Amino acid sequence: MPQATSTSVSVEIMGRPYRVPQGITLVQAMWHTGHEMIRGIGCLGGVCGACATLYRTEGDHTLKSGLACQLIVEEGLSFALSAPLPVRKPIYPMSLLETGPSDPKQDLFTYFPEAASCRNCNACTEACPQGIDVRTGIWKAVFGDFKDAADLFLPCVMCHLCVPVCIANISSDQVGLYVRRAQGVFFTPIPDQLNTRISEIESGRFDAQWAEMEASL
Ligand code: FES
Repeated sequence: MPQATSTSVSVEIMGRPYRVPQGITLVQAMWHTGHEMIRGIGCLGGVCGACATLYRTEGDHTLKSGLACQLIVEEGLSFALSAPLPVRKPIYPMSLLETGPSDPKQDLFTYFPEAASCRNCNACTEACPQGIDVRTGIWKAVFGDFKDAADLFLPCVMCHLCVPVCIANISSDQVGLYVRRAQGVFFTPIPDQLNTRISEIESGRFDAQWAEMEASL
């Protein structure tokens, strides 16, 4: 590996050694070393989940996972972006959610029958760069506690890092997304003020202001 200096550190990117400036992110390290980033880069702010990454730190045998745009290089770090995963994405029409299936909590098992197969290994939680207790979220979803499950999955950025580590083949982030949608549509009362404002908008109360704003653009 190249020698570190006071302003640089030695890292390994996809098995090849490089020296990169201190203090930069793993994404910036890839740019700095000339890697062409066709995929795996999105928001650069830790919210889109595109830059899922596997890495090891010096002297630690643990294979860790994280977001490359949020992790900072350090001496001896070895990393690679996670490969694109063929994640199972059940299609449940939004129109179905909008009009309401008979029981969205039972429908969970139509779209995600494997969700009930969790073996409690907790690998999903260990893999989550957002620190979500994924295992508990899955169990709460399975037992119909959509409110708690939706709250737990709220910080999920759909990076999919929980998926390949699951020995029951559960697409946990997809389960979390379903639960959040269902909770929002079926089990969360719409605030009165929101209904009032929607009625006002639909009745044209703000049409003049809207037209004025559009004209100023
Ligand atoms: S680029 Fe969006 S989370 Fe890293």
